[in-house]
Amino acid sequence: MREFFEYKDGQLYCESVPVKEIVRRFGTPLYIYSKASFLYRFKALKDAFDREGLKPLICYSIKANSNLSVLNTLKKAGAGFDVVSGGEIYRAMQVGGSANKCVYAGVGKRREDIKMALEWGILMFNVESEAELELIDAVAARMKKKARVALRINPDVDARTHDYITTAKKENKFGIDLYTAEQIFARQKQYKNVKIIGIHIHIGSQIVDTRPYAQALKKVERFIKLVSKKYDAGLKYINIGGGLGITYNDEKVDSPEVFAKRVSPYVKRLGLKLIMEPGRFIAGNSGIFVCRVIYVKKTPAKNFVIVDGAMNDLIRPSLYKAYHRIWPVAPVSQEEFVCDVVGPVCESGDFFAKDRRLPIVGPGELLAVFSAGAYGFVMASNYNSRPLPAEVLVDGDKVHLVRRRQGYRDMLRLERVI
Ligand code: LLP
Repeated sequence: MREFFEYKDGQLYCESVPVKEIVRRFGTPLYIYSKASFLYRFKALKDAFDREGLKPLICYSIKANSNLSVLNTLKKAGAGFDVVSGGEIYRAMQVGGSANKCVYAGVGKRREDIKMALEWGILMFNVESEAELELIDAVAARMKKKARVALRINPDVDARTHDYITTAKKENKFGIDLYTAEQIFARQKQYKNVKIIGIHIHIGSQIVDTRPYAQALKKVERFIKLVSKKYDAGLKYINIGGGLGITYNDEKVDSPEVFAKRVSPYVKRLGLKLIMEPGRFIAGNSGIFVCRVIYVKKTPAKNFVIVDGAMNDLIRPSLYKAYHRIWPVAPVSQEEFVCDVVGPVCESGDFFAKDRRLPIVGPGELLAVFSAGAYGFVMASNYNSRPLPAEVLVDGDKVHLVRRRQGYRDMLRLERVI
């Protein structure tokens, strides 16, 4: 895969702009995204499936990176959206996304979220329980609408990824087991304001070996054949969810081609329209997080590089012990040392890297944290009353501020002193 963050003449560039220049204008901590990278990765996935003779609807998973300019970029490239909340529906609407290219998953859809989605006219809900199906039916009845839905199946397969982002084992909260799903088809006529048009799976995230997709599809294929025959289920769509991984460190990730080849036999045999919901694959390596070294603190046990970004800005290392490559934006020293890269938040869990070998850095130097385009800014918080960082989108030699840095006033705006 092509990279859009590269070192040239000893310093890091995003597309054709030196990262140092961007930081000079917008400060740190800062998220920097490459527009070309989002588009390239979206197209790589689309092309791989097109080459297999499938024309998938790619619903970019908004949760990975929901910046409006990112959404607008992908919408213009033809993407639909995978949403998981009223807030994400609202974002999709703000950029003029087509409702009929939007799918809506999540185990806890509330009445008002369902109403909003129906008003907007989304393509379908990915339903995660029978109770949810009942509520969608009731809301649709009141609105005199017919709701299109897919049943999200929990196929009980192990995607062999981090426990927190494995979603298709039977002990996970997601989806409907095959037995219950069959019961729903048997009873489908009682849901008068719902039409079941698809089957959905999402087996996990950061999946580097795509074989579990085939395992899941095997079960789903058998199920679809069964319900089509037994209950005359007129299905039109098979949605394989998101989950394709990226290289953070040295993981060998199945390419879009391998992925497409892996799933296409099932989809072709079923003769259904393919939907997918990639998030990380498109966004992850399309962004970096840049912070500045404040101090280097040497203790008898460790070297701590203390930076101005923290777990509130990028929580993945703290939450999942996730590995993110870190390197100086413009390395000065030839010598290296082993250090922990940590933030100013008052928790020992506030780190970006532990026992990492880096060129020796000093106060004022910039560090780039790579692969921060997905589940980076979107998971940021104001913990320790730290304002949210700014986000910048680079397009060739142009740099656009796509979210300004939060100020102290912004941060307190919704509060009241009594
Ligand atoms: N579809 C559904 C129903 C999902 O739940 C997700 C992600 C996706 C699609 C997109 O998955 P992706 O292609 O990005 O793997 N915060 C975690 C990842 C959580 C993923 C949640 N669901 C992380 O930072 O690793």
